[in-house]
Amino acid sequence: MRWGKRAAVAVVGVAALLTASACGGSDDGGSGSTKVEVFTWWADGGEKAGLDGLVSQFGKDCAGQEFVNGAVAGGAGANAKTVLASRLQQGDPPDTFQAHAGAELSDYINAGQVEDLSADYDTWGLKQAFPPGLIQNLTVDGKIYSVPANIHRANVVWTNKKVVTDAGITSDPTDLAAFIADLDKVKAKGVQSPLALGKDWTQLMLFESVLISDLGAEKFTGLWNGSTDWAGPDVTKAIGDFTKLLSYTNTDRDALDWTDAEKLVMDGKAAYQLMGDWEAADLDAKGFQDYAWFTFPGNGTTFQWLADSFVLPKGAKNAEGTKCWLKTVGSADGQKAFNTKKGSIPARTDAAPADYPKYQQAAMADWKSATQVPSCAHGSACSQGWQGAANSAMGAYSTKQDAAALQKALAAAAQQFAKK
Ligand code: GAL
Repeated sequence: MRWGKRAAVAVVGVAALLTASACGGSDDGGSGSTKVEVFTWWADGGEKAGLDGLVSQFGKDCAGQEFVNGAVAGGAGANAKTVLASRLQQGDPPDTFQAHAGAELSDYINAGQVEDLSADYDTWGLKQAFPPGLIQNLTVDGKIYSVPANIHRANVVWTNKKVVTDAGITSDPTDLAAFIADLDKVKAKGVQSPLALGKDWTQLMLFESVLISDLGAEKFTGLWNGSTDWAGPDVTKAIGDFTKLLSYTNTDRDALDWTDAEKLVMDGKAAYQLMGDWEAADLDAKGFQDYAWFTFPGNGTTFQWLADSFVLPKGAKNAEGTKCWLKTVGSADGQKAFNTKKGSIPARTDAAPADYPKYQQAAMADWKSATQVPSCAHGSACSQGWQGAANSAMGAYSTKQDAAALQKALAAAAQQFAKK
């Protein structure tokens, strides 16, 4: 679905109003509200299925509170973040909104837009529930401001099994040269654009995966913490490899959201798509079963992670109800209800893999031994300003293909936004 069709549609739905409060209570800061407006970009498919799971757990846990769906459609929050920014600026926050752990969350913290939840972490026993590295990514100056719902993996290639098999490919490529050889095999079978791609942020994801292959995990992470030079020859090489991959993609990419590109794979018009593992849930939700996946070729055991978390904005109308939502998000039951449908793995360390679909079982195993790197396209590596600059540099490159200009723009963005 194109975002044009979905834009500006704030999907508003209401879940059951229940009685007898377990954690709802009547302390709503005086506003009298028992509504909890949950602002996300999870409006369709697997994303909506995940949200629905969480909402049903919220209904059980938070009697007396009413879920209000404030979702604004558009992958990676392309539309939602703009709406949210203007609401926050106007002093009209939703009761809670999703924010990625890491640099993106720090933006909201530094702007003073979200409340400190450290005391609630103690009450709810969350410090022990999440891995220490994640806690570190959520903490600013010793305080914790959000509750993570999951861990997603970004560097995964999703395949249409039939298209791949028809091209005579029998094993997964493990480096870029092998991937390109496979893309050629699929193309030789008459599939014009074997690698499905969407607009700017999806191009940034593909480029980040190429950077991981060409630079390795440590130097890749250094791009975001200032220790790797964006103007260096290894980044130049990665731009060359990315350009080669672009030549296998659909030319209408700049008009497509991730779900449009996913449809090319489902329809057999493409063999592959690099996308985060919300794609597993979305393919499941859409009833497409003939898919497989592999880690982006050359990434080895690197797990490019991101985490969706929920906050309590300053000035939320129903702080008490929102706290109950946050408690559900962090709970074992909430994480199971959400992640079994969302394609992600639970942020909590006490989940039972057997409760999860096949893909997530594999991801849980990988997560344990993986080398972790963050994602800029999904806010764990870079601030929103940096992400915006990177997205527009990628969009410009998609049309003009000026490699020197791309590298210069990315180096300038790092110069402007990297923490000194
Ligand atoms: C990410 C988000 C995921 C998924 C994806 C595609 O930013 O963390 O949960 O929703 O966007 O929309």
